[in-house]
Amino acid sequence: MLRVVVLVSGGGTNLQAIIDAIEAGRITNAQIVAVISNNPGVKSLERAKKAGIPAFCISPKSFADRELFHEALLAKIDEFGPDLVVLAGFLVRIPKTMVHKYSNRIVNIHPSLIPSFCGVGYYGLKVHEKVLERGVKVTGATVHFVNEGMDEGPIIAQKAVYVEQSDTPEILQRRVMEQAEWQLLPAAIDDIANGRISVVDGRVIRKED
Ligand code: GAR
Repeated sequence: MLRVVVLVSGGGTNLQAIIDAIEAGRITNAQIVAVISNNPGVKSLERAKKAGIPAFCISPKSFADRELFHEALLAKIDEFGPDLVVLAGFLVRIPKTMVHKYSNRIVNIHPSLIPSFCGVGYYGLKVHEKVLERGVKVTGATVHFVNEGMDEGPIIAQKAVYVEQSDTPEILQRRVMEQAEWQLLPAAIDDIANGRISVVDGRVIRKED
């Protein structure tokens, strides 16, 4: 059974998609052992508690500096001995020590087709604002392993979503979630839990059936 710790910052719709997929048997051989948020009072924490999952807040505001926050975050994750750490809308940069400790064992969902609209400053609704500003006609989402770079790790899966002329950032965000994110992230966790993918030379290889 793959032990999964999910890190969140806000609404937690991707967390919900994982919880629902485990319940429905679309993810097998995996269990969420803890949910950790960097923000207090967010809906993600409620979603976790409702599903009976231990939920915690580790806020940077409770620590004198970033390093102490990183140490506390890593200590809380380590407590649960996870095989996989899932960044499900976790809008905090992952410290290098954690990337090394959990090498190829951290996955992130990003709301664009990487390498477009990613990197520093591209997170949450901002991504969709930039997509609309640029006027691209196709966007999407990407699930990838986390390395030291920002949105640069090996890509596990991507799905394209059409941009409509009348879209607002909020409407587009919802469509990308519905048509891409909520499918891609659970499917990637299921693939990892069932040993279907591996990282070779910085790229994700899917094993033949
Ligand atoms: C999602 O769209 C996720 O892809 C994005 O934040 C949103 C969180 O929503 N993540 C990033 O932008 C990471 N760079 P949620 O809390 O409802 O899952």
